[in-house]
Amino acid sequence: MALKCAMLVAGAVLLIGAISEYFVYGKTTWFSILLFPAVAGISSFVFVSFFIQQFIIAKIRLIYKTIRSLKKDSQDLNLNFSRDLLKEVNREVIDWADDQRKEIEVLKEKENFRREFIGNLAHEIKTPIFAIQGYILTLLEGGMNDPRINKKFLEKASRSTDRMVAMIEDLDSISQLESGKLKLYQEEFDVVALAQDIIDSLEMRAKEHNVTLKFNKKYDKPILVHADPNRISQVLSNLLVNSINYAKPEGGETEIRFFDIDEDILIEVADNGIGIDQKDIPRIFERFFRVDKHRSRHTGGSGLGLSICKHIINAHGYTMDVRSTKGIGTTFLFPLKKVG
Ligand SMILES: Nc1ncnc2c1ncn2[C@@H]1O[C@H](COP(=O)(O)OP(=O)(O)O)[C@@H](O)[C@H]1O
Ligand SMILES: [Mg+2]
Repeated sequence: MALKCAMLVAGAVLLIGAISEYFVYGKTTWFSILLFPAVAGISSFVFVSFFIQQFIIAKIRLIYKTIRSLKKDSQDLNLNFSRDLLKEVNREVIDWADDQRKEIEVLKEKENFRREFIGNLAHEIKTPIFAIQGYILTLLEGGMNDPRINKKFLEKASRSTDRMVAMIEDLDSISQLESGKLKLYQEEFDVVALAQDIIDSLEMRAKEHNVTLKFNKKYDKPILVHADPNRISQVLSNLLVNSINYAKPEGGETEIRFFDIDEDILIEVADNGIGIDQKDIPRIFERFFRVDKHRSRHTGGSGLGLSICKHIINAHGYTMDVRSTKGIGTTFLFPLKKVG
């Protein structure tokens, strides 16, 4: 740039010198014959190229600024003239195209997720609605006067309604947790006592499936954590219910373990049930995901439990993990803030 300006100035000086010689001395010398057209040519070339370059830079600057302003996070709209301008713009365009491609990929993925989610939701709602419709139609078509089925069908319809309500409540919890709207009420509480309450409440259900729910050892002293006890109770019951639902047909054992790790208490829920295939592990926290759709439907799950657990633990600032081996068993683990 500086070189071009210097050339421009030198050209202008020589041109003026040649013209002035001609006019002042009124004669034509070899200098004016040869140099005048040469200097005039070079000067006009430098002049024109300078203005063309300025014009191109102005246009490129416009394109550059448009690209930069399209980049959401870009504040700097200044061109760096110390580097090769076209190279700089070329790099920016390549970066921009790369960003756009990545964004399109993310949007496509989200679109697939949305489509799958709506499909799952429609499917999950359809099942209890069709069941209720069937019971009501049978009752209307004379079943109401049949004492063998009238009460039974109403009870079945009521159970299907309960299932739908539970699912809508779960979805509502997930969307509130996802949008950060659900407020946590965190306090100090004894997580051993909380786990014991849940074990007690699930005793009947566990017995039906021949599953034993227990601690890995005797916890004499309370283990105090700082968290939302209602939400943690929801997490532990979901995990324990899963360990019952996905136990082996002959039954099994589920252990709750607590580990003191620096600032946290690590909680593990470990079963010796059917286990999860490695390929399915990355998907089990997704909404509506079930490894074995038929089995889960039979046990009443709609594939939302683990998604809720994951969101609750995330809302506490932690992540939930899982280790599982098919045919051997599954362990879910998550930390909570230790008190003291
Ligand atoms: N303890 C477990 N053992 C084996 N598989 C499990 C266990 N917990 C969860 N899963 C698998 O993960 C899936 C998702 O679990 P969840 O979100 O609780 O949904 P649901 O229990 O309603 O099917 C289950 O359908 C099951 O296939
Ligand atoms: Mg479940």
